[in-house]
Amino acid sequence: MVKKNNSYEKLIQADNLPCHIAIIMDGNGRWAHKRLLPRTMGHRAGMNTLKEIVRACSDLGIKILTVYAFSTENWKRPWEEVDYLMKLLVEFLRKEINELNQNQVRIKVLGNYNSLPLVCQAEIEDAINTTNNNSGLLFNIALNYGSRQEILGAVKNLAQQIASGEINPDMISEESISRQLYTKDIPDPDLLIRTAGEMRISNFLLWQIAYTELWITECLWPEFTKDDLLHAIWDYQQRDRRFGGLNSERQDEINA
Ligand code: IPE
Ligand code: IPE
Ligand code: MG
Repeated sequence: MVKKNNSYEKLIQADNLPCHIAIIMDGNGRWAHKRLLPRTMGHRAGMNTLKEIVRACSDLGIKILTVYAFSTENWKRPWEEVDYLMKLLVEFLRKEINELNQNQVRIKVLGNYNSLPLVCQAEIEDAINTTNNNSGLLFNIALNYGSRQEILGAVKNLAQQIASGEINPDMISEESISRQLYTKDIPDPDLLIRTAGEMRISNFLLWQIAYTELWITECLWPEFTKDDLLHAIWDYQQRDRRFGGLNSERQDEINA
């Protein structure tokens, strides 16, 4: 169904919002390429989209937003691009921290940020500490994040606990694995949005998205708007989440 701009707001059911939205923010490079601009300009435009989408999620009353900002594989990119992305992160946090804090947004980082440049680490620590007691949107930034590395870390920790006699293998459960991940204490995403059309997950939250609803749009991240977000939420609200079971209508038929 093709909708005109700003048309999804009225269609959203306020009592059926996804609790946790995750976004693979892709397409910055293609956006810049289309405009004959350097890729870095695409990342800058993408940062502006991120500001808008965090604000939109906060205004809508979404509980958790997780964005994929830099993957463990993104180190393969040219040094200049990686360096620009790190500087952009620092700029984003410095510029936005006051507004985010005022809006009760709580910032958390998923991923090993100890290997980022020191200035990034300091800015991240500051943002986490400043917003730590806030009660609004939980804003997770996946930075130097890779899902396989996260799961590998969990396996190593559990193996260590077995080796030291703290636990035995029978005690390992889905919950105990979840507790070893960066997302411990955070419910799994309900909705995963990927911009720029790629039909893949690119090592993002592999364990956590077992039953997440996927929504992929051709729209490039710098062009993604609040109405696109609402479109994704509206689409999510039309889905029948069965989690491997039967929907309530089918269940009623069987019980009849
Ligand atoms: C996403 O945009 C941003 C990061 C991965 C950091 P890309 O830079 O991957 O943009 P494309 O995929 O080249 O268009
Ligand atoms: C995924 O995008 C990572 C982020 C958005 C940070 P990529 O552009 O790195 O993914 P691939 O390489 O197309 O799979
Ligand atoms: Mg990409």
